[in-house]
Amino acid sequence: MNQTKGMLITFEGNDGAGKTTALESVAAILKEKGYPIVVSREPGGSVLAEKIRELILDVNNEMDAKTEAYLYAASRREHLVQTILPALQEGKLILCDRYLDSSLAYQGHGRKLGQKEIEQLNDFGLEGFRPDYTLFFSLDLETEKERMEMRGEMNRLDLESREFHQRVRDGFTCLCQQNPQRIHVIDASQTKEEVAQATLAQVEELWKGRFHD
Ligand code: TYD
Repeated sequence: MNQTKGMLITFEGNDGAGKTTALESVAAILKEKGYPIVVSREPGGSVLAEKIRELILDVNNEMDAKTEAYLYAASRREHLVQTILPALQEGKLILCDRYLDSSLAYQGHGRKLGQKEIEQLNDFGLEGFRPDYTLFFSLDLETEKERMEMRGEMNRLDLESREFHQRVRDGFTCLCQQNPQRIHVIDASQTKEEVAQATLAQVEELWKGRFHD
């Protein structure tokens, strides 16, 4: 738990799970209701981190798995210092599309670099900082793949094999089991409206429950 008045809630899941759509619609509703919302994303979320994002996701940039892990960690450090910590100090409710769990699942499990190793590598930059809560958007791989194909444009990670995405999925399942207090599961197989509704209810409950009853 961070010690400020603000709160960081991260949105996680495999590609195509629908977390970005849910995040956008919930952020718009909460802003309308007057919540102090900040929306961010990883990789990215600050000027330099967005430049690192372009490097990482470009399909023409083949790279070594450890180089990839360092780039995600570097962009995360920059995002933390430039965006997340200042917003938390101002008491904001930050909704962030992906965060550390993505590195643990994609680089730790997907790339087989090891969850512990990736956590240690990131902790050099994070110094123990963790999100207050995480929403994991749970969906079967087949439906995710269909949604990805409908979306069209694929980044470097999207183009990985089914086995890779299965390992990522298994990684997220491990993370949910290891962090039952922090990670809340959203059933992403429902309609867009239902997923947004469930997400909204969960975010409001977490925010109100902590400081604003
Ligand atoms: P993005 O287009 O933001 O995908 P999505 O809309 O599915 O979130 O691309 C981010 C990609 O980077 C996505 O495939 C997941 C991957 N990723 C990692 O492998 N490690 C990480 O630490 C993060 C934050 C993302």
